[in-house]
Amino acid sequence: MSDQRGFTLWFTGLSGSGKTAIAKLVERELRDRGLKVERLDGDIVRRSLTRDLGFSKEDRDRNIERVTFVAKLLTRNGVAVLCSFISPYRERRAKTRQEIEEDGAFIEVYVECPVEVCAQRDVKGLYAKAFAGEIENFTGVSDPYEPPENPEVVVHTAQETPEESAAKVIAYLEGQGYIKPASAGEPTDLG
Ligand code: ADX
Repeated sequence: MSDQRGFTLWFTGLSGSGKTAIAKLVERELRDRGLKVERLDGDIVRRSLTRDLGFSKEDRDRNIERVTFVAKLLTRNGVAVLCSFISPYRERRAKTRQEIEEDGAFIEVYVECPVEVCAQRDVKGLYAKAFAGEIENFTGVSDPYEPPENPEVVVHTAQETPEESAAKVIAYLEGQGYIKPASAGEPTDLG
């Protein structure tokens, strides 16, 4: 039996802020350290579990509600769960925290990046469409994003590399005793 204690890392932030990139780096680092890990990502989950949902407030809250259900089960079973969802509504994130904390730790990571920078990156070409009025209710453009008030970790992706942001998350997990510090002298992917 593994004695790994479960936790959920909840990455919240605008589309294109870097949630997925950072979560992937953290995922790899945790796996390298021998943890059981699952990653749940908006772009993937919305193709299966929540493919019936759109982007109204109700649908976004339902999206997060279902994901929370899965994250809770995994957390209960000692998995390190990485969730990356815009999850724009504070109240819904607070409910998620409450539900997960019944079974393990909930660590909110605010992936902060000005909307102008996200729009300039425009990895998926969605901001251009949103500004052109071709996509309605686009977060940060024509739909709200409520930043966390007391996140456990904040990363600023306009100023940091994804590796630096991921290293901050790992340092937090080590500092709080969720994971053991990497043995001295052992190289990690995060430098
Ligand atoms: S959430 O608001 O319900 O948490 P989620 O993270 O699952 O959103 O999905 C966000 C992704 O859906 C974005 O990264 C983007 O690729 C796509 N998307 C499509 N339409 C929208 C929209 N109106 N607002 C935000 N993201 C959208």
